[in-house]
Amino acid sequence: MPITPTEKIWFNGELIPWDEARIHILTHSLHYGMGVFEGIRAYETDDGPGVFRLTDHMRRMQQSAQILGMDLPYSVEELVQAVKDTVRSTGLGSCYIRPIAYYGYGEMGLNTLPCTVDVAVACWPWGAYLGDDALTKGVRMKISSWARHDHNIMPPAAKTTGNYVNSSLAKVEALKAGYDEAILLNRAGFVAECTGENIFVARNGTLISPPLSAGALEGITQDTVMTIARDFGFEVVLDHLSRSDLYIADEMFVCGTAAEVSSVKSVDDREIPSPGPMTLAIGEEYGRAVRGQVDQYKDWVEHVG
Ligand SMILES: Cc1ncc(COP(=O)(O)O)c(C=O)c1O
Repeated sequence: MPITPTEKIWFNGELIPWDEARIHILTHSLHYGMGVFEGIRAYETDDGPGVFRLTDHMRRMQQSAQILGMDLPYSVEELVQAVKDTVRSTGLGSCYIRPIAYYGYGEMGLNTLPCTVDVAVACWPWGAYLGDDALTKGVRMKISSWARHDHNIMPPAAKTTGNYVNSSLAKVEALKAGYDEAILLNRAGFVAECTGENIFVARNGTLISPPLSAGALEGITQDTVMTIARDFGFEVVLDHLSRSDLYIADEMFVCGTAAEVSSVKSVDDREIPSPGPMTLAIGEEYGRAVRGQVDQYKDWVEHVG
């Protein structure tokens, strides 16, 4: 999906023109994958642009950095303000937001201890990752031949740039085979997640989603969906799933900031009823929640001012 440039990018504390946000070819993280980032969305609300669960995203970025042993030069509060300033500078009502922290230019080699940490925030207009009608139309999934990272190889709890080599290999493999998205199993054979989304399966009236221990990122949308589902009175658990649990699902959806809630209509060509009633109810409520239209979830919407 091509990027539409906006006016400014926040770079190490300053808003600079989009075209001037450039880095040196010998930037450390470009070579070794040691960066942390977030994917966030702002939506148009009655009170202007609102960033959904912004503080939670910046806390997760801080935790990703902590897992890497990277000292972020800004507090969570400062990063929250940086995102608000960047979104405001574009004049956009809704957009996708990409904060990133990485080891900059000046050192080479695998020792990150002497490296400086640079931080940037960019945003631009971006539609739903698996298609704007993925909630109702459904997407086709393929179990990947690639396994998800193991906790002692590349920590899945950290949203690091390097982790996405694994996601990208799986995504391209699935697209080339004619599917929309890949599902990654962990080394024990249980379901972990998709390349950029968490997975929910409904079986016998219960919604089940793989936990962090299965190799999934602790998704902020996953948490949002669990809250919405429980508020609807649905039973929800974090638990391990086998691939056959997917094949015989009563309904299934995937969710993430970029993909929002997307219904799944098949896994490895085994058809799944789509969109299921729980999927549709949750997906539609999610769409209202992110736009500040549901009173009980209004605190999740952080206005840019
Ligand atoms: C690998 C992976 N899993 C899950 C998610 C969903 O996380 P969130 O809902 O916080 O966007 C993402 C998106 O960031 C992701 O990249």
